[in-house]
Amino acid sequence: MQITAMDQARDLDAVLAIEQASFTNPWTREMYLSEFAHSRVSHFYVVRDDEGEVAGFCSIWLVVDELHINNVAIRPESRGRGWGAALVTHVLREGARLGARRATLEVRRSNEAARRLYRRLGFELVGTRRNYYTHPVEDALILWREGLVPDGRIGPKPA
Ligand SMILES: CC(C)(COP(=O)(O)OP(=O)(O)OC[C@H]1O[C@@H](n2cnc3c(N)ncnc32)[C@H](O)[C@@H]1OP(=O)(O)O)[C@@H](O)C(=O)NCCC(=O)NCCS
Repeated sequence: MQITAMDQARDLDAVLAIEQASFTNPWTREMYLSEFAHSRVSHFYVVRDDEGEVAGFCSIWLVVDELHINNVAIRPESRGRGWGAALVTHVLREGARLGARRATLEVRRSNEAARRLYRRLGFELVGTRRNYYTHPVEDALILWREGLVPDGRIGPKPA
């Protein structure tokens, strides 16, 4: 497994397929193309399997000293191997290197796997947006990870 910056032309079809397999409101090709046009704040990372195929992705915005995780997913057949945790850890490290000092994201209340992953990486619950998601309607939990420092300890805490 390897984590790299996304090759925006070559990897987009694979990322869109993982979007479709992972979310009820997946981002579309048009949304990605529009994000790519704002490359000053938008950054994209992919996980590749040993064959070099895209197995997961993460998209972020870097806004001054804040890292906003917009989307993260691992294709269904590759979940549960630690790749999601490795990807988010990589993104937090890269973000810290590029100047981020805190990170935030939103997650569905029922998304146990993602909530567990974020907890292990030091994210804490800061607020709730009632009925934020559709398909199905559900609250969003707003999580923040404070104290990012370049070369600081970022990986998962022991369970
Ligand atoms: C969330 C997601 C990215 C995690 O990827 P992953 O590669 O399976 O994650 P990991 O293997 O690194 O596991 C991370 C943690 O989730 C736990 N986990 C994995 N699947 C789980 C499940 N079905 N239920 C509960 N916990 C689960 C793991 O045990 C691990 O916890 P641990 O570190 O305490 O052992 C992946 O499940 C996914 O793509 N889901 C669909 C898209 C999504 O929900 N994205 C997040 C939006 S905020």
